[in-house]
Amino acid sequence: ERGGYPHFMLKEIFEQPETLKNCMSGRINVEATNVTLSGIIDHKDKFIQAKRIIIVACGTSWHAGLIGKYLFEEFCRVPVEVEYASEFRYRHPVIHPEDIVIAISQSGETADSLAAIELARHAGAFVYGICNVVGSSIPRNTHSGSYTHCGHEIGVASTKAFTAQITVLTMMALAIGKEKGKISVEKYLAVIKELSHIPEKIERVLALNKSIKKLSRIFTYARNFIYLGRGYNYPIALEGALKLKEISYIHAEGYPAAEMKHGPIALIDNEMPVVAIATHNTVYEKVVSNIQEIKARNGRVIAIVTEGDKSVKSLVDHCIEIPSTEECLEPLLTSIPLQLIAYHIAVNKNRDVDMPRNLAKSVTVE
Ligand code: F6R
Repeated sequence: ERGGYPHFMLKEIFEQPETLKNCMSGRINVEATNVTLSGIIDHKDKFIQAKRIIIVACGTSWHAGLIGKYLFEEFCRVPVEVEYASEFRYRHPVIHPEDIVIAISQSGETADSLAAIELARHAGAFVYGICNVVGSSIPRNTHSGSYTHCGHEIGVASTKAFTAQITVLTMMALAIGKEKGKISVEKYLAVIKELSHIPEKIERVLALNKSIKKLSRIFTYARNFIYLGRGYNYPIALEGALKLKEISYIHAEGYPAAEMKHGPIALIDNEMPVVAIATHNTVYEKVVSNIQEIKARNGRVIAIVTEGDKSVKSLVDHCIEIPSTEECLEPLLTSIPLQLIAYHIAVNKNRDVDMPRNLAKSVTVE
């Protein structure tokens, strides 16, 4: 049932072109000119009038939430807060009836996320779920929502559910932004068109698997890793580090690249591999200068770059080239090599990739 793959995780990584097609199916029209999400249409006024969006989630789903913040702020011009459900539920959070609370959860059973939406409902907020498991507790306890439709995820480390969550958040931001008149027609059309091409671009990233596997051998015995990204790719740096930690048991940290100089750069020496996302976008020059700072301190840098990039290539130790896309969609491509790096390093270390120690697929206790 692993379909010829040695692990469910690898199978699920390779399924992503298909799972994202399923996620978009019936939501993006065949001409790729329009997005419709029934959960949004049915509650259009709520989304138009919302004063604020609060996203609650845990772990990988929380990282998807961070990307959601960038998307909703850019396309809907609404303030967004992203909260760890476990912290939110035990603070005294200020929740208004004009707020929309979005819970993101693969399993739909995460105890802290469920408690957080309970709190939000009592405060009178409109609660929306982004879940994968149909009929699970979170969808049953929300006012509305959208399923990610990526199929059963078996590997404990979330991969295909994460990219499907980002895809749903992107479609939501487009649909709401259009209703609110906050996104230009050109941008709306350009992002939808690109989104419809993401599955084939992921195929192209997956074709790099062999070279990523080879690269991973060089870094298998590193004791620590740092992941850097900015803008839309900052949450991907966090997610890349989490994937490595949970399945290889190597200590890793993700940072917004510019934060390095505020402390963590002290860690850099030639035994510290740094995975830097330096794709060709609005923060490219900034990330390049952050990489220069790392190289000046003898850090070893693996960079994720856009195909055809020259300046980063001449600067770093290893490059992984991915297709170019709309900046807001880059996370869907940049997350793939980081999933593969974590996977191969864990396999090299003989780890139980699908069932890492101390972890459970769904965390139903707090
Ligand atoms: C990481 C991972 C966890 C989950 C977290 C939330 O790979 O799987 O961090 O993302 O436990 O789970 P869900 O999304 O089911 O609420």
